[in-house]
Amino acid sequence: MQTDLRGRDLIGDLDFSKEEVETVIDVAQDLKRKRALGEPHAYLRDKVLAMLFFFSSTRTRGSFEAGMAQLGGHAAFIESKTTQIAHGDTPKEIGEIFGRYFDGLAIRHVDWGIGNGYLNAVAQASRIPVLNMQCDIYHPFQILADLMTIIEKKGRDLRRKKMVVSWAYAASYQKPMSVPQSLVLQMPRFGLDVVLAHPPEFKLLPEIMDQAQEQARKFGSGFEVVDDMDVAFKDADIIYAKSWGAMVHTPDAEEGSRIIKKYEHWITDERKMALAKKDAIYMHPLPADRNIEVTDQVMDGPNSVVYDEAENRMHAQKAVMALTMR
Ligand code: CP
Repeated sequence: MQTDLRGRDLIGDLDFSKEEVETVIDVAQDLKRKRALGEPHAYLRDKVLAMLFFFSSTRTRGSFEAGMAQLGGHAAFIESKTTQIAHGDTPKEIGEIFGRYFDGLAIRHVDWGIGNGYLNAVAQASRIPVLNMQCDIYHPFQILADLMTIIEKKGRDLRRKKMVVSWAYAASYQKPMSVPQSLVLQMPRFGLDVVLAHPPEFKLLPEIMDQAQEQARKFGSGFEVVDDMDVAFKDADIIYAKSWGAMVHTPDAEEGSRIIKKYEHWITDERKMALAKKDAIYMHPLPADRNIEVTDQVMDGPNSVVYDEAENRMHAQKAVMALTMR
């Protein structure tokens, strides 16, 4: 067990080794049990986390804030638009200055081509752990919660289990591609055979695909890409279907929105779920465009684990904060 995580950043999914991720999951399970039993676990008494948001959030904000309070500390909610960032505070200044006020600095910045660079620039100037609450490239805390949920539902030995990471239609906006990218990086390390399904215009970043292939090769798991939801869903153990934008195909948001409209039939419904194994679980990080991305019958049906998945955000984040911010 690798436990020396004090002071570490978590920006990309591969920043923590597989053994370190296993430690996070062990600690998260312990913290979940302690909370269920009402056992105090104030490992971060008097510590303060800054949560800097450049984009809206329900689960991420709620779970980090509640998690810090349960660990005996405090989380400060800071929206970029109420700061002086627009008037000149640079990433270096944010890293330097917040690094002196706070014990951890969590940031959500999903602007395409900007977010990840911003987090790394802050981290370079910061003396405290920088935690990625979602950028344009990665959403590592979502994926830690997803992994924890999969282990709860399918057991620790995930070898030869088929996980589908599928694009889905959604009309609301071009959603970030950080969730599918983080999934294909992390899940092959835990033995899951990942099948990535998307229409041709919804490719992930080539460097992420190369890294995902490398992880699959290293850990002896499968990784393939298909362009048909039905083909992907066949005999799957885990269905993870959500929308993302066509940013890799085109930087033009209007063209991206036009392309999305061609694929209205990429919805997760009961017919498609029936192609998967009977005990397959349906996952989604939320928020979802109901009856567009996924039907109510699937989202609220017996195979859906979306609320356990959302709950586990808090336990996984508490684990990382307790390990890095001591
Ligand atoms: N899954 C997720 O990150 O949810 P929020 O956008 O509500 O934080």
